[in-house]
Amino acid sequence: MRSPSLKTLSFTLMLALGALAPWRGQAASPAPVKAEHGMVVTAQHIASDIGVEVLTKGGNAVDAAVAVGYALAVVYPTAGNIGGGGFMTIRFKDGKTTFLDFRERAPLAATKSMYLDDKGNLVKGLSTEGYLAVGVPGPVAGFEFARSRYGTRPLKELIEPAITLAREGFVLEQGDVASFDGNTEKLARDPAAAAIFLKPDGKPFAVGDRLVQADLANALASIAEKGPDAFYKGAIADAIVKASAEKGGILAKKDFEQYQVRELEPVKCNYRGYDIVSSPPPSSGGVIICEILNILEGYPLSYLGYGSAETVHAMIEAMRHAYVDRNTALGDPAFVENPVAKLVDKGYAEEIRDKIDPFKAGTSEALMPEGFAESKETTHYSIIDDEGNAVAVTYTLNGSFGAGVVAPGTGILLNNEMDDFTAKPGAPNLYGLVQGEANAIAPGKTPLSSMSPTIISKDGQPFMVIGSPGGARIITITLEAIVNVIDHGMDIQEAVDAPRIHHQWLPDKVFMEPYALSPDTRKLLSAMGHDVQVDENWPIWGQATGILIGGENLAEIEAGTGARYNGAADSRIGAGAARGY
Ligand code: GLY
Repeated sequence: MRSPSLKTLSFTLMLALGALAPWRGQAASPAPVKAEHGMVVTAQHIASDIGVEVLTKGGNAVDAAVAVGYALAVVYPTAGNIGGGGFMTIRFKDGKTTFLDFRERAPLAATKSMYLDDKGNLVKGLSTEGYLAVGVPGPVAGFEFARSRYGTRPLKELIEPAITLAREGFVLEQGDVASFDGNTEKLARDPAAAAIFLKPDGKPFAVGDRLVQADLANALASIAEKGPDAFYKGAIADAIVKASAEKGGILAKKDFEQYQVRELEPVKCNYRGYDIVSSPPPSSGGVIICEILNILEGYPLSYLGYGSAETVHAMIEAMRHAYVDRNTALGDPAFVENPVAKLVDKGYAEEIRDKIDPFKAGTSEALMPEGFAESKETTHYSIIDDEGNAVAVTYTLNGSFGAGVVAPGTGILLNNEMDDFTAKPGAPNLYGLVQGEANAIAPGKTPLSSMSPTIISKDGQPFMVIGSPGGARIITITLEAIVNVIDHGMDIQEAVDAPRIHHQWLPDKVFMEPYALSPDTRKLLSAMGHDVQVDENWPIWGQATGILIGGENLAEIEAGTGARYNGAADSRIGAGAARGY
């Protein structure tokens, strides 16, 4: 192994070379969508249209985010929701930033061992399906908090399109139908969910069918009429609490009555001169993105090139180290001390770089702290308005269609976010994350998230709005989109479409999307000791939605020849769309 000083010297040399000979990515993707006044990128095209309509009528980006949030609850029921939770990062036109946490809270009757049997073993399915998996939902409170503080339009106006869509229904296209795939059995187990999301014969919807959600329309109309109290203090909470009690859940009316949105200081860091603003705890997202970027800053990624063994090795090792911190040190800030300052410190990143052997894979076991895997179906949307206000929202039911339950009469799908807690220290969760005590279950506590709604600026001007679903992989998806734009010169569509790799400390494996790495690159990585494979259970992941400001890529931005707003919905999303005006 080389000494740190030699390594530093060689990295400096490579950095200098990188600066002279930047490699520009040339991926094969359609051109980003271009607009001059506003851009909305979501996982469902009707929701994107609704967002743009709010902007064209004079609403700001926060107004559009609220309207889109309600619309996705209707047109993207696999993840769009009012029965789950989420985060909103806002960068105002004057450069100020803020972060809203409207994620689920554990019910007051929750206990640390609620998913274990009397022998201390995890009971399969308890934290992922049915009412015991449900955390207290936050979106209705979160959207109203955002609208009343930072929006300009009345709630009724913003919620109206969602009510109409739910009441009159909308015709399902191929991308919509695809988002229902694989959930028929789960939905069939709950009669209220089955009555809405399956056909009368129990079969899944097909292209051309119309999805009508009359109960959801009524619930939305009562929220439009009475505000969040309709959800947290009125008939909706009563219906959910009743169904929960009848079906083995522990939700109580008090859980709803005392739900509070938190406004928090976002996590901030700087990567190669770009200012990153992202999610603080109770998300691990912003902290871990910053930690990985700080580590990667010491490597000339642009020179080494997208997908090269050297670039991928540096990324894997940075991810390995940062995910140890994610899985062991972070939790709800109201319950645990989060070492955020240390984790986003450049000196800490340098210490980690010194431990990385440039020629050999590290081992995750060796990083196991003394004493000591999340959802595919989250959704992210990115918005920017004519004044330059930018909003990034990631919200989720956790698993696809959440806990798969709807309290009769409400039409509202409920989350299974309780699975994001550490149900048993050291045991992998639904998505393979092995987590520790900092994220243990406690009454009123919020489970640690990976959601990373991120806004980047450069020289005081907005540069990029980005985020994605993908459970524990949200962090690396968002990170890779950033690196693809800043280091590899890709345009925003190429950056979100490019095949991905992922490492999360445990399991000690490098997951790659098909074709992400050439056979010879894989051989080089294997020779270094990396176990690289396509994850058969989850071969393609993430649905990033991004906006690049001032050009479709860095070259256009630098030349000053680009469109003002450049939007891209990940090609992996069947129904998504970037829309601008
Ligand atoms: N349930 C996905 C996340 O919050 O990370």
